[in-house]
Amino acid sequence: MCLNTRVKSKPVSICFVCLGNICRSPTAESVMKRLVEEANLADEIDVQSAGTSGWHIGAPPDERSRVAAKKHGFDVRGKSQKFEPSFFDRFDFIVAMDRRNYKDIASLARSEDDMAKVTLFRDHDPHSPPNADVPDPYYGGDDGFDTVLDICIAGCRGLLTKLQNGLTRGVTSVVD
Ligand code: 4NP
Repeated sequence: MCLNTRVKSKPVSICFVCLGNICRSPTAESVMKRLVEEANLADEIDVQSAGTSGWHIGAPPDERSRVAAKKHGFDVRGKSQKFEPSFFDRFDFIVAMDRRNYKDIASLARSEDDMAKVTLFRDHDPHSPPNADVPDPYYGGDDGFDTVLDICIAGCRGLLTKLQNGLTRGVTSVVD
């Protein structure tokens, strides 16, 4: 890893964004943090999550997300926060968990530079069809939360690979 070539001096920052910030995006945050730690990049890559709705501000992750992730050793924690336009300044990469989230984020973008930071989560998984959603598990059964975890692991692996390649080149875009 050749981190000296990076343009920015602060860590690369990522914000995963779903609707409520209690199921999908905190799961992705937990998975990504673990992958980043395993890659010895915790000092380089900052990971957070947020929700477009603000319906659950301050709430912990949904218990069903915590249980599904715990089975595989992931610790889903944190407090729900609402995605605000200022997040375009705070984060280098804004990753929408589904197309509705993507549109809601896009409606808050103030410039083309803001939009250049926004990608769709599953587009980082080389095995996913293009423009696929991470399905919203909130009103479904427990198996939906297991599915979300599997999708998060695949997407985070793909995203980390892109970031690792980008870090070696000093590139801060993950758009192919
Ligand atoms: P998330 O799931 O967007 O993955 O956190 C949801 C959480 C809450 C609601 C919908 C989806 N809700 O309708 O309150």
